[in-house]
Amino acid sequence: MTCDLLIVSAAQLFTAPEGKGPLLGRDLDQPLVLEDAAVACAGGRIAALGTTAEVLARYPERDAARVIDARGLLVAPGFVDCHTHLPFAGTREMEFDARARGESYAAIAEKGGGIRASVRQLRATSEEALAESITARLDHILSQGTTTVEAKSGYGLSLDEERKQLLALRRAGERSPVEIIPTFLGAHEIPDEHRGRREEYVALLLEAMIPAVAQEHLARYCDVFCDQGAFTVEESRRILRRGRELGLGAKLHADELADVGAAGLAAEIGAVSADHLLHASPEGLRAMSQAGVVAVLLPGTAFTLGLPYARARVMVEMGLPVALATDFNPGSTMSSSMPMAMTLAVTQMKLTPAEAWMAATANAAHAVGEGARLGRIQPGYQADLALFDARDYRHIAYHYAEEHVRLVIKRGVLVKDRQNRCSSA
Ligand code: NIG
Ligand code: FE
Repeated sequence: MTCDLLIVSAAQLFTAPEGKGPLLGRDLDQPLVLEDAAVACAGGRIAALGTTAEVLARYPERDAARVIDARGLLVAPGFVDCHTHLPFAGTREMEFDARARGESYAAIAEKGGGIRASVRQLRATSEEALAESITARLDHILSQGTTTVEAKSGYGLSLDEERKQLLALRRAGERSPVEIIPTFLGAHEIPDEHRGRREEYVALLLEAMIPAVAQEHLARYCDVFCDQGAFTVEESRRILRRGRELGLGAKLHADELADVGAAGLAAEIGAVSADHLLHASPEGLRAMSQAGVVAVLLPGTAFTLGLPYARARVMVEMGLPVALATDFNPGSTMSSSMPMAMTLAVTQMKLTPAEAWMAATANAAHAVGEGARLGRIQPGYQADLALFDARDYRHIAYHYAEEHVRLVIKRGVLVKDRQNRCSSA
């Protein structure tokens, strides 16, 4: 049979075993690992995988438009970074410095820093300048093996500025092979012009911003920062319900700074995911597990802010679908590295390397409603692959803060080649 792309002789292939659902409980630690592996891609999808001999018997090299010799390399699904604040303008090193001197994230935000500092920077940036910076970040993200990224607004906080942020994101997405899942996070903070009049801003969200975002198809999901010092459970419920009415799926920044009952709300509302969960109560987690809400863990945030890590083991044992993401943003996590998120998941939250990989690929795809299409090397799935200079999948989280990615494939097409970095530099 013919195919567009054939990857042969890989030292190892890592993926979730055949199936479409999220990996729960013990299954999270039961990957499919093949040695001397091959993958055939056709029409942007996975056509076959197996040992090199098995795949070549069906897809001979002479009938492939392109062949990649993957000797010495690990083949894995491209990462799905299912929680980022990618479209931001400017950075906040001053706050990083202040935290090192003992100030807390909350105290900095209270003084007008934090999210509001990023809002001022975003409002002073044009749509095109923003699109250019997002495009550059996407290129870096791709070179770290991430092929799909969820990206939230939330630094505009007015109809025009949130729209600008989402349009810049769309524009950058048209210039990059990385697939973007856009999320509207207008309920990230109360903007300065509505300070002290939060009801007014919630009304604006409900009556103007969410309807415009939905009507212009600017986002797939609606997210709320439901936490102490942010939006209440009651406000979050109204906002997410409004989004749902107008066709936006629900996501939540839940119980990051304190247990406010956001995990329970995620279950009640049927959110696709509840994220952070550093302080989520056992009852809230149980309700999420019953409702099938994906728990998105963001260890980079706990690492940056010096907070206690989410109780990943408890969540896995409760049967919650656990996913991993970066939370890439200029305040609490200035890193878009999924390998680094896996390292923290293994060393700090005690996931096994296999669990961290499954949480960063198959389960992460479920956190953006794409678990039947993305995050696995499986016939029929989109051919999104990353090839690493490693012979064992465990090496990636273990040998941390290094660049192991060599090739990245999106929709069956080679979109990043770092094999000859030195010679072409
Ligand atoms: O996920 N928690 C709220 N939002 C971000 C931080 C945003 C910022 O500080 O700019 C988070 O950590
Ligand atoms: Fe976040």
